[in-house]
Amino acid sequence: MIKTVIGTDIDYAAELLCNGEVVAIPTETVYGLAANALNPDSVQKIYNLKNRPADNPLIVHVADIEQVYKYTYDIPEQALKLLEKFSPGPLTVLLNKKDIIPGTVTAWQDTVAIRIPKHTLTQVLLDITGLPLAAPSANPFTYISPTTSMHVFKMFDGKIRYILEGGACDAGIESTIIGFPNNNPTLYRAGAIDIADIEKTIGVKLNMPDKVTRTPGMHKKHYSPFTPVLTVDDIDFEIKRNSGLNIGVVTYNAYTDELPIDNQVMLGTTDDMTVAMNKLYATLHDMDSKRYDLIIAKRFPANGLGVAINDRLDRASKQ
Ligand code: TXA
Ligand code: MG
Repeated sequence: MIKTVIGTDIDYAAELLCNGEVVAIPTETVYGLAANALNPDSVQKIYNLKNRPADNPLIVHVADIEQVYKYTYDIPEQALKLLEKFSPGPLTVLLNKKDIIPGTVTAWQDTVAIRIPKHTLTQVLLDITGLPLAAPSANPFTYISPTTSMHVFKMFDGKIRYILEGGACDAGIESTIIGFPNNNPTLYRAGAIDIADIEKTIGVKLNMPDKVTRTPGMHKKHYSPFTPVLTVDDIDFEIKRNSGLNIGVVTYNAYTDELPIDNQVMLGTTDDMTVAMNKLYATLHDMDSKRYDLIIAKRFPANGLGVAINDRLDRASKQ
């Protein structure tokens, strides 16, 4: 078994990556499981570690817009506008890939998902290695994404050599993914950027993806704890209906009187959903270790960041 170390040695992390190994890295959204995107064998290691189906493509992380040009071509005007406005940051764009990006990264599609992450350590790592890094969220397939190094350790202890310690993630939820099929800006995954801000930047409404497009939605069950989750509008009703079970509640601006406060986590006290988004995965990780029979989560208002939060809660509740 491999000894897994958590630390801040960027040079060591860089050395491992240059030698074809997988390293967990911090980003401003969630921790990623990174490998050299130009090396198909290294990329394959990520799929194996995550137990991820080969038809679910990975995001490539690069240092700056110049690098985006290096690995993609025919970048739509609107993609550039978004990159200029939101990068470095939690934006992923789907662009035509150049041949240098191996098919294993993109599940043999012509587009590559590419983003410029904001975390300082990871930016330095991208600089030192000079490599594009393929990195999905550092969790086993369908489990909750990690927002701290300890979440990663819990899931990959003994399986990877190094976790680069970057503190708790700022955003706490994955990047927003935008694609441009036939030059129509399309939302592939709601994420840490408010959709309204994206639409304001490009001046048009986003399309929702069609059914044949490869999206995270292909896998309805995703972001799930081991404990069953029920995401509902009326938590009191579900608590009564499941009386007799040991229930934990995730709510956002009010506790319910139906359960002791110790069984409840309030994600945010106001309708500013940034805080709630930031705490969402850490709360689910924590609740999953409490041995509840059932977690009941209250659906958020369906606007702004609430769209992404509800998407994750709804997927967590798919059996
Ligand atoms: O915030 C994030 O995006 C994090 C951090 C680590 O960067 N990464 C992340 O990666 O969430 P992952 O693999 O967990 O989710 C990426 C999603 C996948 O569900 C995949 O379906 C979609 O991006 N994707 C990747 N390449 C794609 C492509 N060429 N076309 C359509 N969807 C793509
Ligand atoms: Mg993921």
